[in-house]
Amino acid sequence: MRIAVYPGSFDPATNGHLDIIKRSAKLVDKLIVGVLHNSSKNPLFSIEERVELLKSLTKDLDNVEVDSFSGLLVDFLKEKNAEIIVRGFRAVSDFEYELQIAQTNYSLDNNIETICLITRVEYSFLSASIVKEIAMYGGDISKMVPNETIKYINEKFKRK
Ligand code: PNS
Repeated sequence: MRIAVYPGSFDPATNGHLDIIKRSAKLVDKLIVGVLHNSSKNPLFSIEERVELLKSLTKDLDNVEVDSFSGLLVDFLKEKNAEIIVRGFRAVSDFEYELQIAQTNYSLDNNIETICLITRVEYSFLSASIVKEIAMYGGDISKMVPNETIKYINEKFKRK
């Protein structure tokens, strides 16, 4: 059984994340979306909110699970019997960061492979931080995030 983990902060999940989830789920037997708990990034959404939102977004995808993790990603993979890390790759600017993560993980566990899916062009400029900034200033995020995410964001920012 081929099990992969798609790790990230998902603060909150965007259309870009959802696209990577759907596409990578087709490549493996089971995909576990791993939401990072102890993020030093001071997330807008709590771990419970981020997990709940992702569960709701993936409820129709039979081989996708959502779970949170803290500590090392390679330890989370071991716990889940997974051997593949999935990451989305948007632009050249992502390269150094992704290379560092992938090579760190190879050095921690040589049996784990990282696969990077190239983000579709319509989502290539998207990031959770940009979405939050636009939302904070009352801009239109309807093409950037699923409707479910909009509900969470509106609630947080008390938008109508
Ligand atoms: O969505 P992000 O914030 O770019 O995801 C980063 C993530 C979660 C993949 C990375 O921070 C991570 O794996 N953190 C867990 C701690 C760890 O294993 N560190 C060593 C590899 S960088």
